[in-house]
Amino acid sequence: MRIIIRENAEELSKIAAQQIIDGYTPGMRLGVATGSTPLGLYKALREAHAAGDFSMAGSSAWALDEYVGIPADHPERYFNVLHTELVKDGGVGLFEADLHTPDGGAEDPKVAAKEYDAAIAPGVDIQILGLGRNGHIGFNEPGGGLASRTHVDVLTASTREANARFFDNDMDRVPTFCVTQGLGTIMSAKKIVLLAFGTDKAEAVEQLIEGAVSQLWPATVLQHHVDVTVYIDEAAASRLELLDYYRTLEQL
Ligand code: GLP
Repeated sequence: MRIIIRENAEELSKIAAQQIIDGYTPGMRLGVATGSTPLGLYKALREAHAAGDFSMAGSSAWALDEYVGIPADHPERYFNVLHTELVKDGGVGLFEADLHTPDGGAEDPKVAAKEYDAAIAPGVDIQILGLGRNGHIGFNEPGGGLASRTHVDVLTASTREANARFFDNDMDRVPTFCVTQGLGTIMSAKKIVLLAFGTDKAEAVEQLIEGAVSQLWPATVLQHHVDVTVYIDEAAASRLELLDYYRTLEQL
């Protein structure tokens, strides 16, 4: 696990975007996360596209997850969120037809989950991840299996509370179910780029990097992946025991 620590999220978003641009190959499959954390990274990719330095034309993007039962035109439907970030007004050059999300509106979301998993196999080239305060990645909440594939899941109260800000702070409007790539699906990505900012994430970051691998902290499964880079700000890194060691390692 490579750990990159910087003062603030803006700087980290730019460095992470550069990693994506450097690792980009035409036709590649990019796994994309939602939530507020990767927004700076997407902005940096859009700026690179506008400057003519980067384009995802002919490549594809694959979302981690989607709410079940959210209206198709709801602004928080992850397809719509990612469309705004990556496709709209030129975005990163990605074509709408190449933006894939699990079908949360399917008659049988379990079938949709299986189909999505099959479509992703054998795994995306680079997967961008955020991190839930409780250590979730995608919507893999604590207690799910470490080898799970794309499946229908239940959102914990803590995740629904955290996401209520996207639903007018009204918990009743936050969906209860989702379709999410499983941890096994996420682990099938060739390369993983995880970002986490702020003190809210410090405990999850501590577990991710220094905790025991456990389904109680789902992101800890990433300790078994061969190519993970974690971008964290000083606040998110504040609970790490081996901070000096990580800073030195980065200079190698
Ligand atoms: C959301 C998403 C995750 C995201 C996480 C953190 O619920 N399903 O993919 O990484 O929670 O969100 P944020 O970046 O807004 O803190």
